[in-house]
Amino acid sequence: MSKKIIALAGSPRRRGNTGLLLESAVKGAIDSGAGVEVIYPNSLKIKPCQGCNTCCKIDGCIYHDDMIELYEKFKSADAFIISSPVFFGSVTGQLKILIDRCQALWIEKQNAKHRFNQGYKRPGLFIATSGHPNPKGTRFDSSLEVVRTFGYAADMKITGTILVADTDRIPVTEESPVLKEAYEAGRKLAESIMSN
Ligand SMILES: Cc1cc2nc3c(=O)[nH]c(=O)nc-3n(C[C@H](O)[C@H](O)[C@H](O)COP(=O)(O)O)c2cc1C
Repeated sequence: MSKKIIALAGSPRRRGNTGLLLESAVKGAIDSGAGVEVIYPNSLKIKPCQGCNTCCKIDGCIYHDDMIELYEKFKSADAFIISSPVFFGSVTGQLKILIDRCQALWIEKQNAKHRFNQGYKRPGLFIATSGHPNPKGTRFDSSLEVVRTFGYAADMKITGTILVADTDRIPVTEESPVLKEAYEAGRKLAESIMSN
């Protein structure tokens, strides 16, 4: 059976800087034989977590919105690609709302004392862009922390990153050399799960 990668498109702009990089990574993964499903949080109806802790008592969430289907997809994925531009120092609100709702997955894991997907940390590629340059090398730290923490709930470990700063000055276009890097990162991710 073909391996399945879930790709989260955190940018509201489907073919903006982040979207083009994601597109290349997805192509690389598909060319290596993986199945990829791209999820666009901006087009989904996902309510923000209320912190009500109902997920501590029942499996799941009080809200029966588009997140319900995503829980199952997250549980059965073999790998993840997560992408987001930096918005006010972190990932976009669209992506963060989705990630906060993964509290239900975190609690389910704690209650059942199990890990999803046969108990190993699934690999994840993180793609991010920022308008400003990155002179101190810290521009993506907050976003990385959010995605790393998502990994605790989803049993995912970041194994690769494509971090592109300074897009206000040098936007990502179809000719950008970094697209090749994203393609290769997608290929590498897919190849890493093919032998499992
Ligand atoms: C609401 C908003 C907030 C932003 N905040 C930041 C920021 O804090 N730091 C930064 O470097 N760039 C910031 N930017 C610029 C974006 O990160 C940058 O333009 C990015 O490449 C956009 O990606 P996209 O083309 O995929 O939408 C912001 C842009 C928007 C629209």
